[in-house]
Amino acid sequence: MRKKIVAGNWKMNKDLEAGLSLASEVINMVADEYHGTGIAILCTPFVHLHSVSKLLAGNTKVALAAQNCSQYQSGAYTGEISVEMIKSVGATWVVLGHSERREYFNETDALLLEKTKTVLGAGLNPIFCCGEPLAIREGGEYLNYVKDQLTHGLFALSAEDFSKIVIAYEPIWAIGTGLTASPEQAQEMHAALRTHIAAHYGAEIAENTSILYGGSVKASNAKELFSCPDVDGGLVGGASLQSREFTEIVKAI
Ligand code: PGA
Repeated sequence: MRKKIVAGNWKMNKDLEAGLSLASEVINMVADEYHGTGIAILCTPFVHLHSVSKLLAGNTKVALAAQNCSQYQSGAYTGEISVEMIKSVGATWVVLGHSERREYFNETDALLLEKTKTVLGAGLNPIFCCGEPLAIREGGEYLNYVKDQLTHGLFALSAEDFSKIVIAYEPIWAIGTGLTASPEQAQEMHAALRTHIAAHYGAEIAENTSILYGGSVKASNAKELFSCPDVDGGLVGGASLQSREFTEIVKAI
């Protein structure tokens, strides 16, 4: 059974104090108001992880993610954060290949495959992001472009490893722009990705893979997007920085 997930990607926002307030508000609201079987994931900056994980101790509805990690295990990599460090502070998920990492930090599919293996090797769960820029969407080749990201970033994994991956489809033209993919556009891509996964790993694994939509998800559009048959939740940027707005999105899964 695929999981329903709403992940809040804080990006590089909130100092520690503001982040802890936001996390506590979300934790309390979700505990009081969300009674479904899905989970919320808080994707905080690295420096918040340890303190937020203390707030989460024993929580089954809200989990914790890092937004990136090193592909290396340890050593002379100044400024990098390893998967063991992430694990040691209580996070269980890692976002990989966000378009901002691909674009501003030159992360390639080959590097993301290495990172994915490192995350899985530590027993953590990857949320693997993919998505096309506007020019590719307008040129009409968007389905092949995103399918290729999965092929090169993930399909070298064994079936057992692949079955631990959550995918987040985020059209770059919809990230932080206020433009959202229509439910039809999201559904078309999610169904194409699921078919692509089925062709490589078989129908059962494809059916059990959670595919989240990201790109200007808000409380006002979440329900419609999440009601698409192949959309299993969302990866939420801007709207995850406000506890009320984010909780309403969680309640839409
Ligand atoms: P947005 O960001 O919700 O602000 O568009 C989504 C994301 O980048 O994960």
